[in-house]
Amino acid sequence: MSVTTILELIGTDEIEPGAAAQVEAGGLTLAVFRVGDEFYVTDDQCTHGPGLLHEGCLTGYEIECDFHQGTFDIRTGEVIEPPCTIPVRVYPVTVRDGRVLIEV
Ligand code: FES
Repeated sequence: MSVTTILELIGTDEIEPGAAAQVEAGGLTLAVFRVGDEFYVTDDQCTHGPGLLHEGCLTGYEIECDFHQGTFDIRTGEVIEPPCTIPVRVYPVTVRDGRVLIEV
């Protein structure tokens, strides 16, 4: 049986649209992205190497790692552009009372 844990990450007004932030919670290091008024959360560590995704370039729903320019879809974690080959983990997001929450 799996147990779902809710983690509270950050306030919605702490990230500008089109921007990202690194948040540590529950032993995880996460990247929180804002696209318009939608929020997406992935592991911050790029699956290809030492890059941190919150430091990358966000275009629409695509985050380009600034280390070797690999690209992921922040909605699904799927790889869009190599050299990355392994999807990045994504988390279900809920916004409640102006706070961004995830399930892990
Ligand atoms: S470390 Fe992210 S693309 Fe290489």
